[in-house]
Amino acid sequence: MEFVRPSIEWEREHREYVEEWGPARMVPSSFDLAGFESYEMYLEALTKRENGHGKWLPCTNYFLVNENHRILGMVDISHELNDFLFRFGGHIGYSVRPPERRKGYATLILKLALAKCKDIGINECLVTCDEDNIGSAKVILNNGGIEDQSETDIDGIVKRRFWIKITNS
Ligand SMILES: CC(C)(COP(=O)(O)OP(=O)(O)OC[C@H]1O[C@@H](n2cnc3c(N)ncnc32)[C@H](O)[C@@H]1OP(=O)(O)O)[C@@H](O)C(=O)NCCC(=O)NCCS
Repeated sequence: MEFVRPSIEWEREHREYVEEWGPARMVPSSFDLAGFESYEMYLEALTKRENGHGKWLPCTNYFLVNENHRILGMVDISHELNDFLFRFGGHIGYSVRPPERRKGYATLILKLALAKCKDIGINECLVTCDEDNIGSAKVILNNGGIEDQSETDIDGIVKRRFWIKITNS
């Protein structure tokens, strides 16, 4: 099991993931393929976004893949926080492929993402989830999250906010 960066060789797998995801809003949004005429165009836009383009802050995206080259999950790591991310989004967003849920993969994704945060130089990582997202809250708590004050976004959704200290272990 390892993190790999999105590239053309993952197109088929990525498209399958999106199909299994269904009509709901893609999480993290940086993996949404809607509106791109080709996968190459998606990758180009992703590179711009990762470099911090327009409203986007620099970020890095990974797939979690297994030994059969199957994408199990996705993660987007923001290198910085702006006001929006500080209040609602946090540093890290992740998802797990629907049929692969409840097998510990999100807990592993966050653990691996925290190691990447350390490399980026983030000492304390903010991770958030919707109030009713019990699975995500558990993933964060499994990784040492300490709860801070919640925030309510413009749609009235309460976001629980957790800080995770990045240790050397
Ligand atoms: C939330 C999500 C990432 C969890 O992924 P996952 O791989 O199923 O999580 P894990 O297997 O690591 O589960 C961690 C814990 O949460 C529990 N859990 C997972 N989903 C749950 C659910 N829907 N309801 C209750 N508990 C749940 C697991 O049983 C496990 O409990 P444990 O630590 O006591 O054993 C996944 O459901 C998902 O992709 N959801 C849509 C996107 C999303 O919400 N992303 C998070 C944005 S903040």
